[in-house]
This record gives sequence, structure tokens and C-alpha cells, in this order.
Amino acid sequence: MLAKIKETADFIKQIIQDVPDFAIVLGSGLGALKNEVEPIHTLDYHDIPNFPQTTVAGHGGKLIYGTLEGKKVLMMSGRFHYYEGHDIQTVVFPFRVFHLIGIKNLIVSNAAGGVNPNFRVADIMIIKDHINMLPEHPLRGKNLDEFGPRFVDMSEPYHRKMIEIAENVAKESEIKIHQGCYVALQGPTFETPAEYGMIRAIGGDAVGMSTVPEVIVAKHQGMNCFGISIITDVGGPEVAFTVSHAEVLEAANKAMPNVITIVKGLVKNYND
Ligand code: HPA
Repeated sequence: MLAKIKETADFIKQIIQDVPDFAIVLGSGLGALKNEVEPIHTLDYHDIPNFPQTTVAGHGGKLIYGTLEGKKVLMMSGRFHYYEGHDIQTVVFPFRVFHLIGIKNLIVSNAAGGVNPNFRVADIMIIKDHINMLPEHPLRGKNLDEFGPRFVDMSEPYHRKMIEIAENVAKESEIKIHQGCYVALQGPTFETPAEYGMIRAIGGDAVGMSTVPEVIVAKHQGMNCFGISIITDVGGPEVAFTVSHAEVLEAANKAMPNVITIVKGLVKNYND
């Protein structure tokens, strides 16, 4: 595994010839963010040695290296979910590679179901904390000592300073945001009413099927993480309600301009 990670990192480093300031992951329905980047190199996942492949026909993923607000970013358009059948090491492979490239800051976005009763469809939640309920942990097994320690401090999973900057950007742009806890379940089913109740009871504000493995591995490597969720539906234990993939994408589209404003503001103003 280590040799593969190194081979992939060397391949990408040779092409981009620089260390990006941020890695950015585009979640479901958040693809419009990539139009904001001035691309320098665009790599198909197919053409990157050892890189995992997306399972959606006709939607091969792309790694886009370019500039955003004067910063260098490496953007993943197309992420890997556990529910697709990838094992957890495949899900996090790109993030191991990002560390060897030398990237220090990670921005992840996703579409999530809201369980906090104050949330409305197309609201934005800055992720302040998470609960990992996926059945496999990405750090299980022999520790990769070159990347980080066996036991990882998770007292500040999402970087306080980045959250503060994002909050200021939102305030200045009059964008309503929430902060909350994201719970990762494996999916691919959306939750039953009883499961929504459970997520609320354990302290979750939103639920989704991604993000947490990436952030765990990034924290293992000492990266600074920022996460942003678009609330695409709001559920609870009292009401039976339906969710469809189409509704998720519609809500994501609606909130997209505000997510773009926040991410651009963060990239511009965060300088570590
Ligand atoms: N659960 C509920 N609603 C959602 C999800 C989810 O995992 N993802 C996007 N909307």
C-alpha cells in the first residue's frame, strides 16, 4: 500500500511541480465549485496510477489542479463512498497521497440530511464535530508511522480558525449558516424515521454517507480540516417523509452559490 501511495504521489508531483495550499473535495451536487477554479492541469482518475475509480457510469472523476482566489488548490471532482463497495482503504487512498504531496489543508463538502429541528432544506451547516458510525475504521490495522501516530488526538477535528474565517465570510455576505455535528452512516439507504431519531438522540445535527473517513485520515497526518454540508432534507422520528436523490441534488443546487462564496472566502483569507 505504501509503495502505491508513493508512486501515485510522485506521479502527481511531477505534473503539478508545486505544493497546493488546499485539497478540496466536491460532494454530491457541489460540482459547480470546480467552475470557479482556473485550471492548470486536469487529470482523469483513469490516468493516475493506482487511483481508485468512480463507480458511476459516464462520470469518471477528475483531479483538478489550479488557482482559486490566488491560492493553489487540488480539487477532487468525484469522491469514493464506502457504500459503493470500495473498502475503506480505497476510500481514503487519495488523502494519503495528498499528504505525501505536502498538502496541509483540507476542505470537504457534502450533501446531508438535517435532523436538527432548526434546520431547513438548502441551509448550510459548517461541520464542527462528527460521529463515526461507519462499520470500518480507516486507521484499523498496522499503523503507517510515516504518516502519523497510532493513537490520534481528535479534540479538534475541524479547525477552529478555519471555522471562524468561514463564519466571518458568511456574516459579511449575509448568508445564514449553522454549526453542527455530522454523523456518518454507511448508507446507501436514507434513514428510517427511527434512525433519524437515533441520530438526534446521540447528538447529531446532520447525517450523511461520506466525509468522516477522509477527515480521520487527514487528522492522522496532522492536516487542518474544514467541512461544509448542504442540508438537502430535514427528517425526524415523528414524521414519515420521503427523500429522493433528485431532491437532494435540487437542494444542493439552491445552496451552491452560498457554498461557493464561503469556500472562496475561506481559501482567500486562510494563510497557514
Ligand atoms: N441521509 C439523509 N439525507 C441525505 C443524506 C443522507 O445520508 N445525504 C444527503 N441527504
